[in-house]
Amino acid sequence: MECGPRRGDGVISVSGKSVLVTGAFGGIGAAVAKTYGAAGAQVLCADIKDTAATVEHITKSGDRAASVQCDVSSPESVNETMERLANVFGLADAVVHCAGIIHERPLLETPIEEFDQVIAINLRGSFLIGQAAILQMSGRGGKVILTSSDLGYSGRETFSPYVASKHGVMGLVRSWSKEFAPQITVNALCPGPIDTDMLGAEQMTDEWRRKELDIPAGRFGTPQEVAEMALFLGSDRANFITGQGIGINGGSVMP
Ligand SMILES: NC(=O)c1ccc[n+]([C@@H]2O[C@H](COP(=O)([O-])OP(=O)(O)OC[C@H]3O[C@@H](n4cnc5c(N)ncnc54)[C@H](O)[C@@H]3O)[C@@H](O)[C@H]2O)c1
Repeated sequence: MECGPRRGDGVISVSGKSVLVTGAFGGIGAAVAKTYGAAGAQVLCADIKDTAATVEHITKSGDRAASVQCDVSSPESVNETMERLANVFGLADAVVHCAGIIHERPLLETPIEEFDQVIAINLRGSFLIGQAAILQMSGRGGKVILTSSDLGYSGRETFSPYVASKHGVMGLVRSWSKEFAPQITVNALCPGPIDTDMLGAEQMTDEWRRKELDIPAGRFGTPQEVAEMALFLGSDRANFITGQGIGINGGSVMP
């Protein structure tokens, strides 16, 4: 699903807003960054990988974007990234934090180093990005959008560190939404199975694919379908939505 023309069509505008998107190299983050760019935002695209292709896609339509390399688990790197956003596009109006990793492994084969890595990137990264974003939004207002998962509400065998990290993200969302209401809204995207490198649909066994597709919608979601919700949550139309995990999941969970 491609993002169509949006600016000027009276639907959702984030025109001129200063927006950070993390994980902007990846499937969901790149779609989010492009969708915000098409809706008139100025987008800083952050990832541990090179986001030049995402930035080029946005700027070739005349929209404004820049690239920064960021390790979301590092306080120094996150602070540099937020400073860059402030210097290039202004203090943050919205932050959409999509960076994350996943490992599949039975519990009894999981080394503690792997648990620590998943928690460092998915949970500590969310804490650092959210804290730095809220610092810039204090006294002005803004939108913080983290990324949990449908697994932020349920369990999944052989993914316990990932599942724990995504439950943790919901804890940040619920606490910060209370601490910073009403000026700053804090919500989480909770995608179900979305066709990206992380899901790795191409390499799935038939049995695993069947399991993933055993949801009411009967298909994988697209990154663009997640990006549409991310845009809505970052716009003024979502001013009364805070402390929520929003499912974009084809009905995979109904919490
Ligand atoms: N794809 C799905 O089915 C699905 C389902 C539920 C939740 N999610 C969540 O959505 C988010 C985006 O996932 P995706 O499917 O686009 O995956 P993806 O692998 O395509 O993208 C993740 C991005 O995060 C970046 N990243 C990893 N470690 C980083 C670090 N330390 N610092 C900065 N960037 C880092 C990667 O380079 C990559 O570009 C993740 O938080 C993921 O947990 C995905």
